[in-house]
Amino acid sequence: MKGTVLYDIKDGIAVLTVDNPPVNPLSDGVRAGLYDCLVKAEDDSSVIGVVLTGKGRAFIGGADISEFGGNGEGITLNEVFNKLESCSKPVVAAINGFALGGGLETALCCNYRIVAENAFVGLPEVNLGLLPGGGGTQRLPRLTGPGEALKMMLTGAHVPAKKALNIGIVDEISENVVEDSISFIKEKAESTKNHPKVRDMNEKVIEARGDEKVLLEAQAMAAKGRKGQFAPGQIIKCVESAINLDDFDEGLKKEGEYFLECLLHPQREAMIHIFFGERAASKIADVPKDTKTKDIKKAGIIGSGTMGGGIAMCFANAGIPVHIIDQDEDNLKRGLSVIEKNYDFMVGRGKLTAEQKDMVFGLVTSSLDYKDLSDCDIVIEAVYENLELKHEIFKSLDEHVKDDAILASNTSGLDIDSIASVTKRPELVVGTHFFSPANIMRLLEVVRGEQTSNETLATIMAIGKKLKKAAVVSLNAPGFIGNRMLFRYTAQANMLLLEGALPHQVDQALESFGLNMGPFRMMDLVGLDLGWRARKLGGKESPLHAKIGDELCEQNRFGQKSAAGYYNYSEGSRAPNPAPENEATYEKISSENGFTRRDISDEEIVDRCILALINEGADILSEGVAQRAADIDVVYINGYGFPIWRGGPMHHANAMGLDVVIEKLEKYKEITENDAYQPSEMLINLAKNGEKLAEAPQKDERKDKLGFEMSSVANNF
Ligand SMILES: NC(=O)c1ccc[n+]([C@@H]2O[C@H](COP(=O)([O-])OP(=O)(O)OC[C@H]3O[C@@H](n4cnc5c(N)ncnc54)[C@H](O)[C@@H]3O)[C@@H](O)[C@H]2O)c1
Repeated sequence: MKGTVLYDIKDGIAVLTVDNPPVNPLSDGVRAGLYDCLVKAEDDSSVIGVVLTGKGRAFIGGADISEFGGNGEGITLNEVFNKLESCSKPVVAAINGFALGGGLETALCCNYRIVAENAFVGLPEVNLGLLPGGGGTQRLPRLTGPGEALKMMLTGAHVPAKKALNIGIVDEISENVVEDSISFIKEKAESTKNHPKVRDMNEKVIEARGDEKVLLEAQAMAAKGRKGQFAPGQIIKCVESAINLDDFDEGLKKEGEYFLECLLHPQREAMIHIFFGERAASKIADVPKDTKTKDIKKAGIIGSGTMGGGIAMCFANAGIPVHIIDQDEDNLKRGLSVIEKNYDFMVGRGKLTAEQKDMVFGLVTSSLDYKDLSDCDIVIEAVYENLELKHEIFKSLDEHVKDDAILASNTSGLDIDSIASVTKRPELVVGTHFFSPANIMRLLEVVRGEQTSNETLATIMAIGKKLKKAAVVSLNAPGFIGNRMLFRYTAQANMLLLEGALPHQVDQALESFGLNMGPFRMMDLVGLDLGWRARKLGGKESPLHAKIGDELCEQNRFGQKSAAGYYNYSEGSRAPNPAPENEATYEKISSENGFTRRDISDEEIVDRCILALINEGADILSEGVAQRAADIDVVYINGYGFPIWRGGPMHHANAMGLDVVIEKLEKYKEITENDAYQPSEMLINLAKNGEKLAEAPQKDERKDKLGFEMSSVANNF
């Protein structure tokens, strides 16, 4: 059995301490321990009250996710909660550290709650496609009122001690939570026999009866922030039961039914896959776990543009001083003012206090001189995407930055080995591909060069964690992981346009599938002119899939930047409006290239775009560019707006069944005669053996000859 509960008596009070490192989840040993300790405290006539706390930095971190899908042997959580709530002696939860999910639900079964100053609470089950199934949906609204409870459960947010006190979750905040809880419960036990039970506090839920507003607001919140997800609707139904049912136990029963539906729902499996996938991504197969990492005390950034500014914010937000260099004084000023505006915006939204802003923004310094980077432990280059320029900069960095500092490039697709080759320290060179806006997007693709050392890689993975990024390693190959897949996907979207679909139809079909933004809206946002300009410069002909986009560029329709692209935009707005004037262009280019435009179903649109992603992902995996299928899913969810509840393209392929994937690829290969649908060898073999992508053997062979002519993405736009 995993975990235990320590039992101690202090001053007539039984102190129960959950001990299940590192975060005290409610594993079978903890459940059994809690139950036994409560029996022991009840049986001991010298005990007058109980304090429940946790060892280490957590009170109770939640359910033991590794038990999901198991046969659930031993004492159930509900048995423990019943025992706790009906304990014949008063119980106080001494919330010493974080109390999340089942941890907070445990505390809600106690008569009282006292929280340490720096602790926090929350019900984050929604992030795993679940709802708080241990009475949380019924008890929390009774303490905070349904509105606050819904906000907490739908966002899964961590609520700090002070706020927990303000909204009624806890009774007190304390500096010495266990000692204070012992005195508190002793005093309560001696002064009264009536100890409150959350289940009986009906006032706030009854108050909300007949008031539709709170549920409508919750529905709007879920529709906006958790589009397509199943669990939020179930949470709202649970709270509706808490509001409308007179009998608490009836509400609990409803919660149990809705919980089970979540548990059996495919979204739950998909979201847990990502939860574990993000943790697994930080492990690099051939880099030993105990590899030394460098201490990063100060960072440098070259280039104060879109990416440089955002990356600088990531470091400052993590409390790491950061120095920005630009070649151009005006650009530098502009860059810094954008950073400040971002922080001011956060202050305006109440996400940061004015003092916090001063502190964080105070960590950002800047100048025009490379010499000012001499004390940095890492420097990240974020200048224009031009290999010669990057060569120049890395040569200069090699001279000015201390010998053991890491030199990283934020390139979206240039050859990291080529960049490393101009330095005397190729083992300290690595790609750190942040996504825009870098201060918000979670993905960090870590590009491993031929000579990047284990220590450099391990340091970047550690710093990624500090910056709260989902860091995924990619081999140094064209487009890395994400942009290589994106290229295949947008190419297919463009082919659909050439064959007869319209941009808004393609976008709507894929947005209904769950993508944050359809491909044409995305291409308009990025700008259609990047690839067009590159092709013009190089005297290259447009590839078939880019013919329409290039023709639009010839008409000065570059996307949002020119208020016209695949869509039209009104001034100052990013909302896409249909552009019927483009249809003549579509007709013309289709016919010039031998396509008779046809009606294309939404099913074909989704199939073709998503299959293109899956097929390319499988190639990426078989070439060893990505370490594991889940890494690809983590990339696509955190960087490209793929719906988390589908678990990423590779998980989605498994859910479809690889035999079905192959069947569909073959079908579209026949219809389109397009190479994109030639099934990947890896998929064919796995499907033949009835295996899944996650079980695919990890290929550890490096492909040296992947060819780095040009970022494949740029070709597409
Ligand atoms: N913008 C994106 O969405 C995005 C996303 C991921 C990666 N990237 C990559 O990040 C890098 C930067 O892109 P960006 O969009 O931030 O560019 P940007 O044009 O917004 O900013 C580039 C900045 O670099 C400065 N600069 C140019 N040469 C310099 C030099 N020699 N020394 C110091 N500063 C110099 C410029 O003055 C400018 O302020 C590129 O490699 C790009 O491919 C961009």
